[in-house]
Amino acid sequence: MIPCVMIHELKNDRLIRALLRQPVDRTPIWIMRQAGRYLPEYRRTRQQAGSFMDLCRSPELACEVTMQPLRRFDLDAAILFSDILTIPDAMGLGLQFVENEGPRFSSPIRNRSDVDRIGVPDPESDLRYVMDAVRTIKRELDNRLPLIGFSGSPWTIATYMIEGGSSREYRFAKAMMYAEPETLHALLEVLARSVADYLNAQIAAGVNAVQIFDTWGGILTPAAYREFSLRYMKDIVGRLKRGTGSQTVPVILFTKGGGAWMEDIAASGCDAIGLDWTVSIGDIRRRTGGRVALQGNMDPAILFGSTDSIRAEAAEILAAFGSGTGHVFNLGHGISQHVEPDKLKVLVDAVHELSVPYHSE
Ligand code: CP3
Repeated sequence: MIPCVMIHELKNDRLIRALLRQPVDRTPIWIMRQAGRYLPEYRRTRQQAGSFMDLCRSPELACEVTMQPLRRFDLDAAILFSDILTIPDAMGLGLQFVENEGPRFSSPIRNRSDVDRIGVPDPESDLRYVMDAVRTIKRELDNRLPLIGFSGSPWTIATYMIEGGSSREYRFAKAMMYAEPETLHALLEVLARSVADYLNAQIAAGVNAVQIFDTWGGILTPAAYREFSLRYMKDIVGRLKRGTGSQTVPVILFTKGGGAWMEDIAASGCDAIGLDWTVSIGDIRRRTGGRVALQGNMDPAILFGSTDSIRAEAAEILAAFGSGTGHVFNLGHGISQHVEPDKLKVLVDAVHELSVPYHSE
């Protein structure tokens, strides 16, 4: 007989409760890219590691940088320190992060035979360093806070694989979409299976929630978004082993620039939608009729403003969402490396303090 023990008894479960639309005492907050270059201690650890990928590949150092923002700010979640490009790296595309330029692949995907050469990575062998990082961070967190796992969306990962790096125009990815849609579908199919396996392995290793970053979904037409991005995210959501009851692992879908498609995203089976700052969170709450939780959506640039403007904007967003659960505060995209860390403290404390009245009933 296996004794009946709770696997996670989180001391702070506000994030999970808000994502599942259960009552909370105040609005939880975490920040995309909360571990990163705006923190001097991150820059030191990054230097110690040598390169960004060496940092990701060391479970101890990935754990250290995951913990760094939690020592400074009263955040309601940790997020795994890793990257969305670990999957194509494991597929053998030869990933490098070039200083002041970003990611670059030595073997981009340009045609059907390139797609036919790649396979679905085995998360516990090919991406073992990520699962080891999850286990190390879970041990270090000791259930004080939930840990968020993540992946890129198939479409967003595909843009990097096809372009060979970051892009302005998405010339090659869009050319493949319009000239050879079956090739793109074949690539997205392999990626959807890879992402589902990868997230399920993160869940098995202990993450308490997962987010899919669809950073480039917003560059698509409405029809292309449905066919090439949302469809595959929906497929992944359906394949996730999310558990039940108090063990449920909620799923957040974040399509940057996805404001026009909220109803479709809400119908995907996800628990929560991440919002960028181009929409009103109140409008989206009405449009999605409380079917999902909402995460966001402060303009990251507000953190360049004064303490007063940061507090005022936090108050504005809390009021726009209104009373009741189902809101996770965040920025509308990752925090800038140029932000002064004390400004983030102002935001985190403001959200906790100002959100109490919205949860009094
Ligand atoms: O949020 C977190 O704190 C967790 C860590 C995290 C990173 N990348 C660390 C990182 C997460 C969730 C990501 C996701 C990611 N990576 C996305 C989707 C989210 C988004 O921002 O839209 C994308 C598009 C990537 C791909 C990527 N990684 C690019 C284009 C770059 C280079 C651009 C840049 O900002 O320099 C990275 C590198 C990267 N990933 C850094 C960090 C902290 C900076 C690397 C460094 O230390 O030099």
